[in-house]
Amino acid sequence: MTRDCILVTGGAGFIGSNFILEWLAQEDADVVNLDKLTYAGNLRNLASLDGDPRHTFVHGDIAVHAVVSGLLERYQPRAIVHFAAESHVDRSIHGPEDFIATNVTGTFRLLQAARGYWSKLAGPQRARFRFLHVSTDEVYGSLSPHAPAFTEESPYRPNSPYSASKASADHLVRAYCHTYGLPTLTVNCTNNYGPFQFPEKLIPLMVLNCAQGKPLPVYGDGLNVRDWLFVQDHCAAIRLVLRAGRAGETYNVGGRTERTNLEVVKSICRIVDELRPAATSCESLIRFVKDRPGHDRRYAIDTAKIRHELGWEPKESFESGLHKTVRWYLDNQTWVAAVTDGSYRDWLATHYADGEAR
Ligand code: NAD
Ligand code: TYD
Repeated sequence: MTRDCILVTGGAGFIGSNFILEWLAQEDADVVNLDKLTYAGNLRNLASLDGDPRHTFVHGDIAVHAVVSGLLERYQPRAIVHFAAESHVDRSIHGPEDFIATNVTGTFRLLQAARGYWSKLAGPQRARFRFLHVSTDEVYGSLSPHAPAFTEESPYRPNSPYSASKASADHLVRAYCHTYGLPTLTVNCTNNYGPFQFPEKLIPLMVLNCAQGKPLPVYGDGLNVRDWLFVQDHCAAIRLVLRAGRAGETYNVGGRTERTNLEVVKSICRIVDELRPAATSCESLIRFVKDRPGHDRRYAIDTAKIRHELGWEPKESFESGLHKTVRWYLDNQTWVAAVTDGSYRDWLATHYADGEAR
């Protein structure tokens, strides 16, 4: 008899690894983790699970139908939680091709494999199965300063190759539910922050640059606004949507914490100054640099639906979450050093046999 399990894609990335750690701490179902280990995939994030039989890591690509369908047949998961993506807007501007390959074609192939598997399941397993797709608020485009926050009914207006690829994936997920009846759930969430985020994104980049006395590059005037969500609050929302969300629905998830980038960077500087006192404040490292092309001005999410329907609320305030996060990057120098010198990429060879591994 196979054990109760879920298939997670992209579980070696930032949110996926936090999700797996949290899932195994809270839920009684194993995890099969399919990840291609791009530059953003870091198995060190899951080092605390070494030897844990509840986590099976599989090195592979969501865009290869045979890999995904083979895993579905073998492990018979009761859900797929789909995080795998190319996720960095700046990279999508310089090289959009990978974003189409993984976010669009990869999601399509995953849906095809899921549909094939689900359609052959027997009654109760078929009724229980869910495909949960993790997406972003960026699909809704940019808000003017006083416009109301995005709801699930807001029109899609993606502006970057990244957000356009995620919007395409969202549309495919919707179509597979509408056309084939695949029981899908979609979560569109705001900017996450917390441990294990690759330091090309704003918050970890700024913490590490502060720690190393390097310049803090703020794009444009620094007044672009993002709504920040602590990653564990996002993971809790995903678990709740998986358990109680209505199939076919979309849920917006956000921290209701809008901050300009400059406010975020100055807050990080204050925390680093407090934790690592130095002669000059980190604020002296702030540099305004050339803006990102097509830079969305503001994102904000209205969380009324998930609050009223499922009773979800973020638990972490931005101030406490940011404090924990800065402390985590300052305290986890081994993780930081492995990411900085690239040796995190050796983890697969040193800790796992080739290919599928526990
Ligand atoms: P990440 O870049 O840290 O991790 C992505 C993971 O996917 C990596 O482990 C990578 O190796 C893996 N991957 C990439 N291509 C793959 C492929 N073809 N097959 C299998 N694995 C592949 O991303 P993240 O920040 O953890 O984001 C996870 C999901 O959440 C993404 O879908 C992203 O669009 C979405 N999201 C992220 C944020 C955020 O603030 N980070 C906000 C909203 C939505
Ligand atoms: P980022 O973390 O890349 O997330 P996203 O583009 O998905 O919102 O960037 C967050 C904000 O910070 C965004 O407005 C761009 C800005 N930013 C900087 O000002 N400097 C930087 O070095 C980076 C990486 C981002």
